[in-house]
Amino acid sequence: MQLRIASHHRVFVLTGAGISAESGLPTFRAEDGLWAGQRVEDVCTPEAWDRNPAKVWEFYSMRRQAAQPAQPNPAHFALARLEERLGDRLLVCTQNVDDLHERAGTKRLLHMHGELAKSRCDRDCGRPPVEDRRIYRSLDEVPFCACGGRLRPHIVFFGEMPLEMERIQRELAAATWMLVVGTSGSVYPAANFVHWARGSGARTVYVGPEAPLNAAAFTQVVEGRAGEVLPDLFLEG
Ligand code: APR
Ligand code: ZN
Repeated sequence: MQLRIASHHRVFVLTGAGISAESGLPTFRAEDGLWAGQRVEDVCTPEAWDRNPAKVWEFYSMRRQAAQPAQPNPAHFALARLEERLGDRLLVCTQNVDDLHERAGTKRLLHMHGELAKSRCDRDCGRPPVEDRRIYRSLDEVPFCACGGRLRPHIVFFGEMPLEMERIQRELAAATWMLVVGTSGSVYPAANFVHWARGSGARTVYVGPEAPLNAAAFTQVVEGRAGEVLPDLFLEG
């Protein structure tokens, strides 16, 4: 199965944890996934942060540690090659907080759920997120912002607004193709993007080993692992 994406097409790619599975990073909702061993309410909500910031940092420090040895896999590289051909007619919108897309060479990328390798002030003091890969062993190791706020993971918690939604809506409205890779379609608004793309007439393709919850919205579902399917999926020219 191959997709011919001619040079006039505009492609919006949405990726989820599944594209990093073959790089050894756990997904969320598999039996051995991140949410099997941890409650979202305890580590990924604003209330969790207010109640127990030490527990939130313990979870994200563990994820930083787990992400260190991970390498981009053939799926990440396939998307970087597609961008070499399509240039500014391709955008990768990832729900993932790892930096495997960047390390595979993708430039036109946005992290709608934040980035593991960054931290930011937990107050709205206006200071931008900072590069930070530190693994904090206890809360008193966590620095404070100049405004007195405490550094928190630059991660969009459940209940918070995903990042760059205006740009996402603009790019989806202009897309003629939408490729969705490795996401269960269980978290909004990302799970709605395929409906928005369909609404503006785009062809929508899903790649993953099992059908996502929003499978009915796709023109095509290509069953398989991203690292095996993506390298041969796009016909040149
Ligand atoms: N290749 C492609 N897809 C895969 C692979 C693989 N090798 N292995 C697993 N998958 C698929 C699974 O079939 C599943 O549909 O990846 C998907 C992972 O789904 P989730 O674990 O729900 O992860 P995701 O959809 O990215 O979660 C979305 O939820 O917890 C929040 O913010 C978090 O960004 C995350 C969001
Ligand atoms: Zn601050």
